[in-house]
Amino acid sequence: MTRNNPALSLSKNIDRDADVVIIGLTAVGGEPTLVGSTADVEKSYQKAYGTGLRTLALALGASTKLESTVVLPPAGQRVLLVGLGDADVTTEHMRRAVGAALRTAVRLPDAKGLKVSVSLELSDVEMVQAAGEGAILGSYEPQKFSTVEKFSKVSAISVVATGRADLRGAVETARVVADAVCRARDWSNTPPNLLPPAVFADEAKHSLRDERVAVEVLDDKALEKGGYGGIMAVGGGSANRPRLVRMQYVPRGATFHLALVGKGITFDSGGLDIKPAGQMAGMKYDMSGAAAVIAAVQAIAALGLKVKVTAYAAMAENMPSSTAYRSSDVMTMFDGQTVENSNTDAEGRLVMADAIARAAIDKPHLIVDVATLTGACMVALGARIGGLMASDDHTADRLMDAAEAGGEEFWQLPITEEIRSQLETSVADMRSGGKNRYGGALVAGAFLQRFVPEGIAWGHLDIAGPANNEDGEYGCTPKGGTGVAVRTLVALARQLAL
Ligand code: BES
Ligand code: ZN
Ligand code: ZN
Repeated sequence: MTRNNPALSLSKNIDRDADVVIIGLTAVGGEPTLVGSTADVEKSYQKAYGTGLRTLALALGASTKLESTVVLPPAGQRVLLVGLGDADVTTEHMRRAVGAALRTAVRLPDAKGLKVSVSLELSDVEMVQAAGEGAILGSYEPQKFSTVEKFSKVSAISVVATGRADLRGAVETARVVADAVCRARDWSNTPPNLLPPAVFADEAKHSLRDERVAVEVLDDKALEKGGYGGIMAVGGGSANRPRLVRMQYVPRGATFHLALVGKGITFDSGGLDIKPAGQMAGMKYDMSGAAAVIAAVQAIAALGLKVKVTAYAAMAENMPSSTAYRSSDVMTMFDGQTVENSNTDAEGRLVMADAIARAAIDKPHLIVDVATLTGACMVALGARIGGLMASDDHTADRLMDAAEAGGEEFWQLPITEEIRSQLETSVADMRSGGKNRYGGALVAGAFLQRFVPEGIAWGHLDIAGPANNEDGEYGCTPKGGTGVAVRTLVALARQLAL
């Protein structure tokens, strides 16, 4: 799969050949005020319409409300106004506003290879990075599996900024991070018949070909031999055999060793405990954790962050058949612990448990896993906020800080003794699920933690909600696959590399 995102560059002034110029409108200070190097465009608007930009904008209903957009009639170049809100602009406001502006730009009726200049009076690294990320993320166009010819609606974006800081570096970072998010979105959006585990594993390898990342793919034979009882059980029902992809990035001078583990169920039918049709619809997105982890490793390596990363993507298809695993089966997992299966639709935790146990052998300081793990997490937190569980509050805080820096939303959930006790069974070392549906996200977290050895810190991101945006687009989030967790993981690596 190849993607041509718009080129992203830094410029001191609004590019003369830009088709669309994005300018802000803020309410800070009372009256609506334009934000950007407006002088250049002001002249052409005066000439064309005999009125100033601001007057024209307000007459056409431009609002200062964050993310609201209005496109002015053309005067040579065309101005697209975006609301920046009535409070001081944070990096997240910036990301969302620019995202909304680019979403509007790609929807212009004549959008075909547009050149866009983003002029918002930027001068510092964080803001330039946020604007750059918002621009690429907002211009995301999903891969279309159609025979009709397709062209890019926006071909180039320049971020206008001046300052002493390393703004070129900020733009480059934005490009790398946003491209990685878009790649994760593409994989998530790919129809499940086109992305079975073997193909997904090849995609992972291909996406890392230019990086200093060693990639190793375990196929079903290697998994069987290696004793990966969880992955083999889950993948057992499908003719599309499972895979475990191991990726390792070892930069010179790194002291911290981070392990990442992603859930890559390329389609989750529920297995023999089959899902009703309505709930099966979104299950191509059940590989979004693996997509995020692979994309994050690529970005971390491309940015040259000084942190050692070993990542695992556990890929399988959960299908019902005569070779499928059953509820009440007992499996011997990679680390030798035995698990009584509670429900074949609780497959994610089984593939993750094997991959986490495998990751632990590498002796990382911290394991972070990412999975579209439970519907219960969506019941608890809604569709936009991910659940965060951790071995200790320090790790939880680290992940919360990283999420904030990346502009993603997570909320910490507890794992209590009562929750842990729900995994007790007389048949095996543990059951894979609880006795009722209460606290389902926490029970799943408690289960995963049983595969993290004492002494290794652990964080768990349940992205069942935010991986897939079923409602309208907002900020820099499109419909469908969102690429959530990529930005948090890259921000985490950046923090650990300091
Ligand atoms: N992939 C699902 C979780 C999910 C649900 C993700 C909705 C995104 C949207 C997971 O494998 C699953 O089916 N979990 C079950 C667990 C239950 C059987 C213990 C669930 O959440 O209902
Ligand atoms: Zn399931
Ligand atoms: Zn699943």
